Amino acid sequence: MDFVTALESLVGELEEGLRKAGGPEELEALRVDVLGRKGRLAQIISRLSDLEPEERPTAGQAANRVKEHCNALFEERRKTLLAAGEAAGLARFDPTLPGRAPWRGSLHPTTLITEEICGIFTGMGFEVASGPEVENDYYNFEALNMPPEHPARDMQDTLYITKNVLMRTHTSPVQVRAMTTRTPPLAVIAPGKVYRRDSDLTHTPMFHQIEGLMVDKDITMAHLRGTLTAFVRAVFGQRTRVRFRPSFFPFTEPSAEVDISCCLCGGKGLTQGEACRVCKGTGWVEILGCGMVDPAVFTAVGYPDEVSGFAFGLGVERVAMLKYGIGDLRMFFENDVRFLRQFA
Ligand code: PHE
Repeated sequence: MDFVTALESLVGELEEGLRKAGGPEELEALRVDVLGRKGRLAQIISRLSDLEPEERPTAGQAANRVKEHCNALFEERRKTLLAAGEAAGLARFDPTLPGRAPWRGSLHPTTLITEEICGIFTGMGFEVASGPEVENDYYNFEALNMPPEHPARDMQDTLYITKNVLMRTHTSPVQVRAMTTRTPPLAVIAPGKVYRRDSDLTHTPMFHQIEGLMVDKDITMAHLRGTLTAFVRAVFGQRTRVRFRPSFFPFTEPSAEVDISCCLCGGKGLTQGEACRVCKGTGWVEILGCGMVDPAVFTAVGYPDEVSGFAFGLGVERVAMLKYGIGDLRMFFENDVRFLRQFA
């Protein structure tokens, strides 16, 4: 078969093959067979050198034209197959099926609890305040009646940036900032991140607290009790029992820690005959620290003697763990969507 006839019959065979090719795989196999590096066309072209020198230019041009033509045929068939595939897909499309709802994200449990708690207190007339996470020694310690030799200032517990600048170890400095910028009466709630040099199963170097402060004339321990009892029952249910236990904080006097009846065992101390794992069998869990603002703090911020007030502080992750029954603090920081989705 001479050169040009071979080319012509190749085109004929290709047209036949393309008609039969029913899908992308067959099309590709055919392409390799005809146009591949060692394919049929390449084999014909390799015969160019056998031709007489004066025949080679025309034969070469013919080969190039055939090559272009073959490529065009492939492209055409590819498009036809694609369109047919899409038409078939459309034919299978059932517009009466329910749509796929887009997945909505969820708020992090820390955010949920912070919002819930702030909502409860703003409902009682508190304002939401904030302060810096990088804090001066004065606001974090000094003005809160923690003088330089106070053990809480130890490098072991506090992340220092310089001698006088540190990551706040609690939200209580926001109390001081609120009082230095406002005059009584005032009621503020301050949520935010706090930092401590602590990292183990139940402590993380960063966690969240919410601080509360109310100052006016004639504020008493009864206001503190009433406010915090109402708050705790709003979060954990109206049947929750509340207990105030004497405690100590440098910036409150007297001070107390508040326990609530355990939300897992309902205060019985037992779950399925065994000591409850949440309250360790005691029936109570600690939920916050509080007290009457120490007069030394009022002096530091220049408030008159006749005011009094109460303050409290609580850990947001702790409240979330108790409320949602989360057993492991690390889950708050791992950002595992399977965990987070449960709060959607
Ligand atoms: N700041 C205290 C802490 O981090 C909590 C607290 C706040 C206690 C306000 C009493 C009054 O432990």
